[in-house]
Amino acid sequence: MEQYVIKGGNPLVGEVEISGAKNAALAILAAAIMTDETVTIDNLPDVRDINALLQAMTDIGAKIERIDAHTVKINGSFVKDIPVNYESMKKIRASYYLLGSLLGKYKRAEVTLPGGCNIGSRPMDLHIKGFRALGAHVEIRNGAVAAEAERLIGGHIFLDKVSVGATINIMMAAALAEGKTTIENSAKEPHVVDVANFLNSMGANIRGAGTDVIRIVGVEKLHKTEYSVIPDQIEAGTFMFAAAATKGDVTVKNVIPKHLEATTAKLLEAGCEVEEFDDAVRVVASKPLRHTQVTTLPYPGFPTDMQPQMTVVLGVAQGTSTVTESIFENRFKYVDELTRMGADIKVESNIAIISGVKGYTGARVSAPDLRAGAALVIAGLSAEGITIVDDIHYIQRGYENFDRKLESLGAQIQKVNSEKEIQKFQFKAG
Ligand code: UD1
Repeated sequence: MEQYVIKGGNPLVGEVEISGAKNAALAILAAAIMTDETVTIDNLPDVRDINALLQAMTDIGAKIERIDAHTVKINGSFVKDIPVNYESMKKIRASYYLLGSLLGKYKRAEVTLPGGCNIGSRPMDLHIKGFRALGAHVEIRNGAVAAEAERLIGGHIFLDKVSVGATINIMMAAALAEGKTTIENSAKEPHVVDVANFLNSMGANIRGAGTDVIRIVGVEKLHKTEYSVIPDQIEAGTFMFAAAATKGDVTVKNVIPKHLEATTAKLLEAGCEVEEFDDAVRVVASKPLRHTQVTTLPYPGFPTDMQPQMTVVLGVAQGTSTVTESIFENRFKYVDELTRMGADIKVESNIAIISGVKGYTGARVSAPDLRAGAALVIAGLSAEGITIVDDIHYIQRGYENFDRKLESLGAQIQKVNSEKEIQKFQFKAG
């Protein structure tokens, strides 16, 4: 099993190039099979989740031509509405986007129901409510969601809770329904807008993405397109927090600064300097970090996917901070690991109360999920001594070349596969 071994203490300094947004790319790939013509998608991040979804799509008949690490051509004309199986869903939860795309295109879809995951239970009731509002008959059968419609007819949907997945899934199905669909209380995340732009570039008629009312006028069919995925705001934010925690000076490049406003605001409150450029953001952490309060919220609020990284920064800030998790119920699992690195954090229900300590000390820790894994790496980078992060397969799901990008900023980090390699690293790091 691969691990990261890190010798902490070096401030991160320099420039880092941000990859395409994983969460946007997953939905865009699933939507690409909604036409029989060939679609080209560029700026894909080269990460495990993307490769797992491409495999799931190949399994149902999509022809995928990999042009290079970041570009694919997809042809969906051979796709069958056969069930997306348990194996695919286990590897990549976002395979559920194939429900919306297949239902829209073939009026039939079956996808294994995803179970809960490490950050809490992940229901699909809102996705199902949306498909039903479009006239589909949806049932849970043998552990799968099966949706079928003779005709999909536009409808009016109010989402009781803001859900990125439900918004995108319903938007995809409605793009090929008859007539008008309105999704109220829709998610406003940048990737919702990116998927809408992608579908529109294929001939869909979607307005209002990025606001809380999305209006869709169904079209008969979609056509080929060439599309480039937006930059990953969560990867960018992760490097911004890594700069803060290591008292560094990092410029994240190829970003849309507007998407990073909530992150930037919290870094400023914590005492960092943040400079915005057209497509880059520079974070300088030259002063002591200060405590603050954070609550995760749907966009444009502070992203839940940045919560563990923020906690790591506040763990070494002066004073007492609180981090409230309002989206997922089980997203503080990593706190026990961080405590082993010297953090002083108490979790009460969905609030972490953080008493800042002077610094972390290296320890052997285990990544419990993707973002918490990245956060533990950040803690390791700021810690005194050696940190070993186990279970990095979670991190590799969503961060392209994480170790190499960090190394280019001066971090001492290496991917290892054995105790011997760890010892070699320790010897070299001194
Ligand atoms: C997406 C992101 C994930 C991010 C999350 C919130 C992808 C692949 N994943 O996940 O990284 O953390 O948005 O920004 O893009 N809910 C229901 N019923 C539903 C659907 C959701 O109750 O049918 C609840 C969820 O339990 C959660 C909240 O709504 O409490 C938000 O979830 P949602 O926005 O749907 O998250 P995902 O789309 O799964």
